[in-house]
Amino acid sequence: MGEDNQCVIVVREFDPSKDLTSVEEVEKRCEVGPSGKLSLFTDLLGDPICRVRHSPAFLMLVAELSSTKEIVGMIRGCIKTVTCGKKLSRNTKSDPTKPVPIYTKLAYILGLRVSPSHRRMGIGLKMVLRMEEWFSQNGAEYAYIATENDNQASVNLFTDKCGYSKFRTPSILVNPVFAHRLPVSNRVTLIKLPPSDAESLYRRRFSTTEFFPRDIDSVLNNRLSLGTFLAVPRGCCYTQESWSGSDEFLSYPPESWAVLSVWNCKDVFRLEVRGASRVRKTLAKSTRIADKLLPFLRLPSIPEVFKPFGLHFLYGLGGEGPRAAKFVKALCAHAHNLAKEGGCSVVATEVANREPLKIGVPFWKRLSCDEDLWCIKRLGEDYSDGSVGDWTNSPPGLSIFVDPREF
Ligand SMILES: CC(C)(COP(=O)(O)OP(=O)(O)OC[C@H]1O[C@@H](n2cnc3c(N)ncnc32)[C@H](O)[C@@H]1OP(=O)(O)O)[C@@H](O)C(=O)NCCC(=O)NCCS
Repeated sequence: MGEDNQCVIVVREFDPSKDLTSVEEVEKRCEVGPSGKLSLFTDLLGDPICRVRHSPAFLMLVAELSSTKEIVGMIRGCIKTVTCGKKLSRNTKSDPTKPVPIYTKLAYILGLRVSPSHRRMGIGLKMVLRMEEWFSQNGAEYAYIATENDNQASVNLFTDKCGYSKFRTPSILVNPVFAHRLPVSNRVTLIKLPPSDAESLYRRRFSTTEFFPRDIDSVLNNRLSLGTFLAVPRGCCYTQESWSGSDEFLSYPPESWAVLSVWNCKDVFRLEVRGASRVRKTLAKSTRIADKLLPFLRLPSIPEVFKPFGLHFLYGLGGEGPRAAKFVKALCAHAHNLAKEGGCSVVATEVANREPLKIGVPFWKRLSCDEDLWCIKRLGEDYSDGSVGDWTNSPPGLSIFVDPREF
C-alpha cells in the first residue's frame, strides 16, 4: 500500500485521549491464531497498554489511514534486561566456581494486530519496523516475539520478512479451576515468602536461567504478584512461624524443595474462546453445575471459557532434590485454590520444553500449547554478551524464566 493508491498509512504513538475506542474495536475484530477453529479473543479491560506497562520501558504504536484517520492496526513493545548466558566470575570476592549471569537488553514485541479488512497490505511489517527502530534507539540488543507455531501469518512475517529465527519452544500448560478445592499433600509444608526473601532466593538460585529479569524485585513487589510460595518436607526445620530468611534456607536446604510465584492476570485482561457449538457450551456448563453441587466428588469440570474469563499465571517455578516435582504439584494445588478464591477459570504457566519439573505441573492438553514458538533477532552490532557470542545461536538450557509481565 502506498501513496499511488491514495491510502497512506501513518504509524504513530498511541494516544489514549483519542484512540481508546478505535483500538478496542480493532482488538475485538482480531482473533489470535488460525481462523476456522476455536479462536481466542482478548479483552484488555479498557487499557490497551496493560500488557506492557509493567515493564521498565514500553511503547504502543498504532497504524492510521491518513485519509480517514481510521485506526487499522497496533503493536506493543517493551524493553528490559535479562540473562542470556552465564560465565565464571572473575571477581575475587565471589566464589570463582559459581557461574554468574551475563545480561543483555532484550526487547519484546506483543499484541500485534491488523484489522482483517486491511491485512496483507504491508501494515504489520511497517509497524514492526517502526517498533524495532525504537528498540535500537533505546539500546536493545535483541528482540523477540512469541507466537503459535501454526499462526502462519505471524511466523512468515517475522521469519521471512523481518529476519527473526526460531529460537525456543516452551510449553504453555493450562489447568482448569474446578468448583471444588484441590487437596494439598499432607507431606508438604507451604511457606509464603516476603518479597525480599523471594528476591534473594531467586537471585541466588535462578539468576543464571535464560530470560531471568534483572529487575526481579519490581516483578515480585508489583501489586499483581500474589505471592511466592515455598514447599518443604513436613517435619523439617522450616515452617511459616520459624522462617528466618532465604540466606539461612539456602545454606541449609532440606533434601527437596520447590518454589513458585503467582501473578494475577485477571486484573489486567480477560480471555474468551469463541466459535464453540451450543452443545459444547451446554455440556461444559452441566459439568460445572454438577461439580458445584457435589464438590466432594472432585469432578473434573470444564471451566467457563466461552465468556470473558480471568486467569492466574504461575512463574518462577523451580526446586531441587529428588522430590521437587512432587512439591511442585503441591504448590500447583495451592495455586489452584487461590485462583478459585480469585474467581479465575484457569491457571496457566509456561516452562521450557525440557524443564525437569514439568512433570509436577497438572494441565489439560486441550487447553495447553505444547510448543509456543519464540523467535529472536539480533538488533545491532555492539553487544554486552561477550563470551556468550551470538545468543540467537546458543543451545537451549533445561529451564527458562518466563516473565509474568509479558504473558
Ligand atoms: C499477523 C498480522 C499482524 C499480519 O499483518 P499484515 O498487515 O496482514 O501483514 P503484512 O501485510 O505486513 O505482511 C507481511 C508479510 O507477512 C507474511 N504474511 C502476512 N499475512 C500472511 C498470511 N495470511 N499467510 C501467510 N503469510 C502472511 C507474508 O510474508 C507477508 O509478506 P507478503 O505479503 O509480501 O507475502 C495479521 O495477520 C493479524 O493481525 N493477525 C491476527 C493477530 C495475530 O495473530 N497477531 C500476531 C501475534 S504475534
